[in-house]
Amino acid sequence: MTDRYAVIGNPIEQSKSPLIHTAFAQVTAQDMEYTKVLGPVGGFAGAVDAFRAAGGKGMNVTAPFKLDAFAYATDLAPSAQMAGAVNAMKFEGGRVYAENFDGVGLVRDVVHNLGCPLQGRRVLVLGAGGATRGALLPFLAEQPAKLVIVNRTVAKAEELAALGRQHQSGNVPVQGLGYDQLQGRQFDVVFNATSASLTAQLPPLPSSVFAPGALAYELAYGKGLTPFLQLAKQAGVTRLADGVGMLAEQAAEAFLWWRGVRPDTQGVIRQLTVPLV
Ligand code: ATR
Repeated sequence: MTDRYAVIGNPIEQSKSPLIHTAFAQVTAQDMEYTKVLGPVGGFAGAVDAFRAAGGKGMNVTAPFKLDAFAYATDLAPSAQMAGAVNAMKFEGGRVYAENFDGVGLVRDVVHNLGCPLQGRRVLVLGAGGATRGALLPFLAEQPAKLVIVNRTVAKAEELAALGRQHQSGNVPVQGLGYDQLQGRQFDVVFNATSASLTAQLPPLPSSVFAPGALAYELAYGKGLTPFLQLAKQAGVTRLADGVGMLAEQAAEAFLWWRGVRPDTQGVIRQLTVPLV
């Protein structure tokens, strides 16, 4: 019997997950279908209950339901606990296993696809919201030379930095700063994990933060040269990336978790890439 999976969100039309998972199923010869579910706002649990009752095996979760999924799960993986949000669920009998693969997908894209190890590098992350929270432990597991979180609201950056120091198994220095404290500091990898790009805004980042040979990585995808990537380019950065690989890799992690086989992501990344111009 064909196994059923879906992504739930509201709105949901824009989601690339069905395209990605259908491509993965094809290349790995898995007998499954993957559809979209428009969840009613305030009606997340009912929509998921119905999908499970119809034999659904697992779901991805997108805005605005990542916290609802966190509450709905019976078994939260450490990644979901740390992120405070869920982006993938697996249903087995009465159990709802929940994961958050965004952080590990991001690191896999950077290290594996872009060939940019984080180990021993100076890493800067802009923003202290959900995206940074989810990436915190996967970043620290790579043992960068240091991790700096910078945020408009400095207290949130400090809070996440303290959380990182508390939960890491290594000894990576982790600091939370305000943008005005970045003068005179340089980084090898700079991630934009703010939501600023969604509204074409630019965090107040000094262009001097990019070290020679730095990678500038925009977590948003499909938006071309965002203000952050433009700033990096103008500062002479030649290694620019957006989150298309992160999107594909978090999907591949979920696929592996559900089906026990890791799909190759290159085809999907090629298909979804929007040139950075
Ligand atoms: P997400 O879950 O996508 O990370 P979020 O939790 O709402 O979204 O967090 C958004 C992040 O983007 C926050 O760190 C926010 O900064 P504040 O905490 O100071 O609000 C940051 N952000 C949003 N717009 C920004 C802008 N124009 N400049 C700088 N930072 C911005």
